[in-house]
Amino acid sequence: MPTERIIRPAKNIYGSLRMPGDKSISHRYGMLGAFAEGTSLFANFSTGADCASTLSCMEALGAKVSKRDNGEVEVKGVGGRVKPANKPLDCGNSGSTMRMISGLLAPQQGRFTLVGDESLSRRPMERIRKPLVAMGARLTLTDGHAPLTIEGCELRAIDYTTPVSSAQVKSCIMLAGLQTVGLTTVREPVRTRDHSELAMRAFGASVERTLGSVSIRGPQQLHAIKAIVPGDISSAAFFLCAAALYPGSSLVVGELGLNPTRATLLDVLTSLGARISVLNLEEKHAELVGTVQITAPAKGLGTAEISGKLASQLIDELPVLAAIGPFTRSGIRIRDAKELRVKESDRIALVAKNLRAMGAEVTEFEDGLDVPGGQKLHGATIDSGGDHRIVMAFSIAALRAGGETLIQGADSAAISFPEFFSLLDLVAER
Ligand code: S3P
Repeated sequence: MPTERIIRPAKNIYGSLRMPGDKSISHRYGMLGAFAEGTSLFANFSTGADCASTLSCMEALGAKVSKRDNGEVEVKGVGGRVKPANKPLDCGNSGSTMRMISGLLAPQQGRFTLVGDESLSRRPMERIRKPLVAMGARLTLTDGHAPLTIEGCELRAIDYTTPVSSAQVKSCIMLAGLQTVGLTTVREPVRTRDHSELAMRAFGASVERTLGSVSIRGPQQLHAIKAIVPGDISSAAFFLCAAALYPGSSLVVGELGLNPTRATLLDVLTSLGARISVLNLEEKHAELVGTVQITAPAKGLGTAEISGKLASQLIDELPVLAAIGPFTRSGIRIRDAKELRVKESDRIALVAKNLRAMGAEVTEFEDGLDVPGGQKLHGATIDSGGDHRIVMAFSIAALRAGGETLIQGADSAAISFPEFFSLLDLVAER
């Protein structure tokens, strides 16, 4: 049952938080651990429903998953050979699960059907079908979308240049390449998050990289690891943006994942005028982790223009950056972000619709938005479209609006961040 949530304005953001484990890294650790030889153990694994979808698909394929009393997730892997699933694999709302698991299963023996919820069943899957078919895979879609069927067979290595910059597509091809004789190379126009490369190495695989490409020589066997998943910077983004709005705020987020392919938000917030310091920087399984402290500028946030490479590196943070645009002095402009239209919802259309509902002026483009600064917003009813990042982005905008805001479908936050509302109550001073 979708739930509603009322968000009241806040006077300040103050406190210290830890984020649940990064969603992207948890998907990869969960999937690789389930495929590897041996038993892996993960602390601070993502609590989101998306990563639970990955684990339950991998269980259906023969892995054993259990949760220890201390919250750690134990995954006993299948040692490189999955068991045929006797029913469709349900990927829920998770594009990462469906796209990555397809690459993992294409070279396996058996017939697999992958399904998802209404939103996932609308999302483009041709982007993974094309490279997998080029490798010789037998994979069929339903009108370009899920349900998707795979007849596992032996593949051949390829050298593939992705037309869209997508870490999910890159990871899908690498997972197929891991099990395929020869050198599989993926080239991408803009370098996307590199968690798969780092995770595969952590599980013992050899992966080569250049600035614009990643290569894997298969077949290789993965081996179990013990790891602590870094806090999710895309979840922290909501709190960092909230803190940036209040002169006098101070927020510390500990043990946060700061992988350079994910941390561009910190540069944007700095260029908007926020003061950010990073402490206790460490490397864990090649992922950077540190503590981030943010305070807001006394004269308010300035302006940001996000386009080209920046837009693709910030793709998950763009909804919240747009939602705080009205409270900056000179606005936020976003271009080259057409991918936002094919996420869990059409995020460009929903951001524009909801900003307007709150009384803001906004111009929508096919590939972005112009959100002028210096605007006052009022509370409104927010149509989240069942999209977790829209729920949380507008919960942040609501903190600075006049009056109460009603977020429809607020339960969707649990797709990536079930703790979001309780942590918001902890740091929002009213
Ligand atoms: C993700 C990659 C991005 C991102 C998504 C998670 C990943 O999607 O938007 O939330 O974990 O690889 P695309 O690969 O479609 O850009």
